[in-house]
Amino acid sequence: MEQQQQIKRLRLVLFPLPLQGHINPMLELATILYSKGFSITLIHINFNSPNPSNHPHFTFHSIPHSLSEAEATTKDAISLITHLNINCVEPFKECLARLISNALDNESVCCLIADAMFHFTQAVADSLKLPRLVIRTTSATSFGIFPAFPLLLQKGYLPLQVSRLEEPVVEFPPLKVKDLPVMNMRNPEKFYELISRAVSETKASSGVIWNTFEELEQPALDSIAKQLSIPMFPIGPFHKYNLAYSSSSLLVEDQSSISWLNTQPPNSVIYVSFGSLAVLSEAEFLEIAWGLANSDQPFLWVVRPGSVHGSEWLEPLPNGFLENLGGRGHVVKWAPQQQVLGHLAIGAFWTHSGWNSTMESICEGVPMICRPSFIDQNVNAKYVSNVWKVGVQLENEILERGEIKRMIIKLMREKEGEEIRYRVSKLKDMAISCLKQGGSSYKYLESLVNHIHSLGH
Ligand code: UDX
Repeated sequence: MEQQQQIKRLRLVLFPLPLQGHINPMLELATILYSKGFSITLIHINFNSPNPSNHPHFTFHSIPHSLSEAEATTKDAISLITHLNINCVEPFKECLARLISNALDNESVCCLIADAMFHFTQAVADSLKLPRLVIRTTSATSFGIFPAFPLLLQKGYLPLQVSRLEEPVVEFPPLKVKDLPVMNMRNPEKFYELISRAVSETKASSGVIWNTFEELEQPALDSIAKQLSIPMFPIGPFHKYNLAYSSSSLLVEDQSSISWLNTQPPNSVIYVSFGSLAVLSEAEFLEIAWGLANSDQPFLWVVRPGSVHGSEWLEPLPNGFLENLGGRGHVVKWAPQQQVLGHLAIGAFWTHSGWNSTMESICEGVPMICRPSFIDQNVNAKYVSNVWKVGVQLENEILERGEIKRMIIKLMREKEGEEIRYRVSKLKDMAISCLKQGGSSYKYLESLVNHIHSLGH
């Protein structure tokens, strides 16, 4: 009698870092892998939790974080991540063990996909004999510098010293010391320790998934693959897979952004947003406001509540500031960014150079003005302006309205801006074609799916 072998459905357990710039790519990745036939479970911390009702095909499990009120904040992301790597070990292990032992008869939990910054998850996965892949949500280029931190410390580039900021880092051209992926903090040791653990536990993983494409970051991808000796899967841009993505926004997306854009001429609007973490001083906020006002271009500006030191929202703006512009400026607390960048009215993006924002801008062929705040953003900004040449960077330490106005004009009205726009349109074509059959990301996704199947046996 012929024996019917039952084919088990494979379930993946995903574990995102509870920050917007990490939740978005993780849920996009979940959607991509679901479309490839995997069942998806998300374990998430009960802080900045994604909304399960937006993702009815996935199963969600919440675990406690045990952070004090003072610790449960994104104001000091490094401290937050450090605490979570300690506090979450037990609840995560319990939850994952339960998921493995309670798996349905026709299913098996075959692999964990964790954010690379959750380094503790490698030891947990090892103890449960579960393979672990990591997702790294930044550029490969910026991550590629992390393994060299011991060398950079030895050579005195790190910790940052004001007197050396303009010095070239000869090991990583065209970066200068000020472009290194670090943060200006009083005690950087905690940061170096976090990075060192993230690198070693990435090396110990079964592979890295990147929201990038090979043509954009080949040198960095090759160098990381060589140093870490693990499989690499650059399968981005995640959000362009032509799948039905649901929003994973933690803040309400203000749809007036789109209705206002509908009233503006094509390629005329500068979109301004500094992501989910960056905080500005009141002086910087006012320089931005006046720079935008004096540029004479229409602007859509995201001012996240609490993103200006000492203010709830727009209080520092002079009375009647927006009204006096006669509708040329529109300010919202949070925008549907991907939709905004794809709108015909958008002519440029003034960004903090977060990796998601950078990829989203490239994918819509929108040239950038870069003003990075910290870590990977410094490297991304330098590559956007000096290597890929699809944007310009505001490099002066002090933001000044005259320079802002000049940059906007350069990018939106001058010949140099036209050339930048042309280059970014070419990069956009490249980003889209690598997802098509035979394209690099298409092939890497196939090999990722095969790799996961092989881990499951
Ligand atoms: C930070 C890092 O800088 C980034 O490089 C890293 O990969 C994740 O952590 P963040 O400051 O959140 O990220 O910036 P970014 O990576 O650009 O992500 C922001 C996300 O929020 C994007 O997907 C963007 O589309 C979304 N967003 C932003 C909105 O939906 N609406 C907004 O108004 C602003």
